[in-house]
Amino acid sequence: MDGLTLVTGGAGFIGSHVVDALLMSGSDVRVLDDFSTGKEENLDGAWALAAQGGAGLQVIEGDVRDEVRMRDAADGCEAIVHLAAVPSVAQSMEDPVGCDSVTHGGTVNAVRQAVEAGAERFVLASSCAVYGDAAELPIAETTSPRPLSPYAGAKLASEGVCADAADAGQLTAVCLRFFNVYGPRQDPGSAYSGVISRFLSAAAAGEPVTIYGDGRQSRDFVYVADVVAAILAALQRALTGTSVLNVGTGRQTDLLQILDVVEERSGRKLERRLEPAREGDIRDSRADAGRSRWVLGWEAEIGLPAGLAATWEWFTAGDSGA
Ligand SMILES: NC(=O)c1ccc[n+]([C@@H]2O[C@H](COP(=O)([O-])OP(=O)(O)OC[C@H]3O[C@@H](n4cnc5c(N)ncnc54)[C@H](O)[C@@H]3O)[C@@H](O)[C@H]2O)c1
Repeated sequence: MDGLTLVTGGAGFIGSHVVDALLMSGSDVRVLDDFSTGKEENLDGAWALAAQGGAGLQVIEGDVRDEVRMRDAADGCEAIVHLAAVPSVAQSMEDPVGCDSVTHGGTVNAVRQAVEAGAERFVLASSCAVYGDAAELPIAETTSPRPLSPYAGAKLASEGVCADAADAGQLTAVCLRFFNVYGPRQDPGSAYSGVISRFLSAAAAGEPVTIYGDGRQSRDFVYVADVVAAILAALQRALTGTSVLNVGTGRQTDLLQILDVVEERSGRKLERRLEPAREGDIRDSRADAGRSRWVLGWEAEIGLPAGLAATWEWFTAGDSGA
């Protein structure tokens, strides 16, 4: 990627790591973000990289649904990584219209402006939530989607928007279905945060953790640097049409196992508050990552102990730029 790449949601958790990686690879980067959940400080490392020369960084504050802002942001871009969304199942249950407007409506606008700008590649952050509570594990991309929330429905609809544009020969689309992403810069402060960041933050603050149900719910936790590597491969690989690909490790870990690793890493025993299981919580999840390996040549490389150690370091020592 020698040209300009737009990262929507680039001030967010995953987005800011993508921006860093693109700058490090020598690509010029433009960010479009409304800073609703994104943070200025997530881009501190990116500004420092840009200041060292080599690649340029521009940040536009604005809403992906805003036609003019999105047109300006897409102008001159070779590729777009579209991460801006309301990234929460729970929030989408509380505000389905708002979630759909940003997540699906924002994708409609982003794809439209990508086509207008002549961008060749569009990478969408989709989600394993589109599968719902899959009956069989591991979950391959051939599994019929069964979205159980407005968030999941909006992600599936977003994939459809990308596929329509790709079918019309307007761009090449890569829809990446991220499993449970964790790592430095994930915000533990919200009720919707990922479980690893909440457990680590509780350990750092010496606070109790809440476990819903028996704690044996399992997820496929994938470290943010691995997700970034999948996104870069999706930008660089020779592809045509639409690709829909899982981004997960192919391993599942339950919440009590996560707690064990967090306690081991932090050297602190955590008080556990037990609550009834949450309605609608998916029981188990694990990606079949075979298609991504085949299509992108990508495989998750960072195991849970190493990823959790790096995230713990960030929680306790501040952003190491990991
Ligand atoms: N974190 C995960 O485990 C996970 C899993 C599956 C999919 N995803 C998807 O990955 C993407 C990034 O998620 P994240 O975890 O980094 O969340 P995040 O909240 O840190 O990032 C989202 C970014 O989008 C920005 N944004 C939100 N609405 C916007 C709007 N209307 N206009 C412009 N910018 C807007 C936010 O300010 C933020 O910077 C999202 O699309 C999310 O649905 C994340």
